[in-house]
Amino acid sequence: TKIFAYAIRKDEEPFLNEWKEAHKDVEVDYTDQLLTPETAKLAKGADGVVVYQQLDYTAETLQALADAGVTKMSLRNVGVDNIDMDKAKELGFEITNVPVYSPNAIAEHAAIQAARVLRQDKVTDMKMAKRDLRWAPNIGREVRDQVVGVVGTGHIGQVFMQIMEGFGAKVIAFDIFHNPELEKKGYYVDSLDELYKKADVISLHVPDVPANVHMINDDSIKEMKDGVVIVNVSRGPLVDTDAVIRGLDSGKVFGFVMDTYEGEVGVFNKDWQGKEFPDARLADLIDRPNVLVTPHTAFYTTHAVRNMVVKAFDNNYAMVEGKEPETPVKLG
Ligand code: COI
Repeated sequence: TKIFAYAIRKDEEPFLNEWKEAHKDVEVDYTDQLLTPETAKLAKGADGVVVYQQLDYTAETLQALADAGVTKMSLRNVGVDNIDMDKAKELGFEITNVPVYSPNAIAEHAAIQAARVLRQDKVTDMKMAKRDLRWAPNIGREVRDQVVGVVGTGHIGQVFMQIMEGFGAKVIAFDIFHNPELEKKGYYVDSLDELYKKADVISLHVPDVPANVHMINDDSIKEMKDGVVIVNVSRGPLVDTDAVIRGLDSGKVFGFVMDTYEGEVGVFNKDWQGKEFPDARLADLIDRPNVLVTPHTAFYTTHAVRNMVVKAFDNNYAMVEGKEPETPVKLG
């Protein structure tokens, strides 16, 4: 049995080696390159591939992989929004993802950043760097005084709710699917509009499906409370970035936590030092004292990365052995 893995980073290698040690019967080979129509041939002779990338898995890429004889593909991440599903189906692909590798990694990041925005910590940091050690005028808001509105109550949303409750916040939630436990406890409001009207902090934990694209826009921001904090650690396209910038400029939006960004592909996780920065809007957001930008690092913990590697390899191994993988992706 042979499994070929794409885009393996240095920080993933120890976990890949750990899996190899535990599966001596499997030949594992890998590259640091992304899966593209050109690199697909590297997988020739393998029974399955383990992948992670933000670059699209286009029809052309999937075709090239199928031509190399591989149609069993295991993602090391959650999101499947960058796969050409129609093509995958047509070619008879079997795909798995890792839907739960560490909800805490992402939820913790959202909570920490939301709290930092409320305390205006970045303003203090920027003043400190200039050796201005005065308090005023950047007085903080306590988490316990906020109504926190959680959009999406899947694994990540639920952990985020627990953390914010730990700080003493009043938590409300909206989801088209109601979790029975949360329902019993009365967390759900009836509509997104209601959540927008009531929440001081709004955090998104929903997937990038067409219905959710630009759910945060000029109209939804208009419905929100003055001084709202918006948190997006989910997917860039959920937020109309220009609308949030207008909200920040008018003072309606108190702060913005942005770990995912509409224009992030090809920009995040690259070193731009000494080079021309490619996105003026992003540069402006990074420089704002009430905006906390991180380059899609909410997931990036040892706990999460280990699970992403191990669970993806487990899934792929099951598929190539003709067994039912733990977390198959439904193709359309
Ligand atoms: C996911 O798992 O879908 C993520 O967003 C993290 C990934 C970009 C590594």
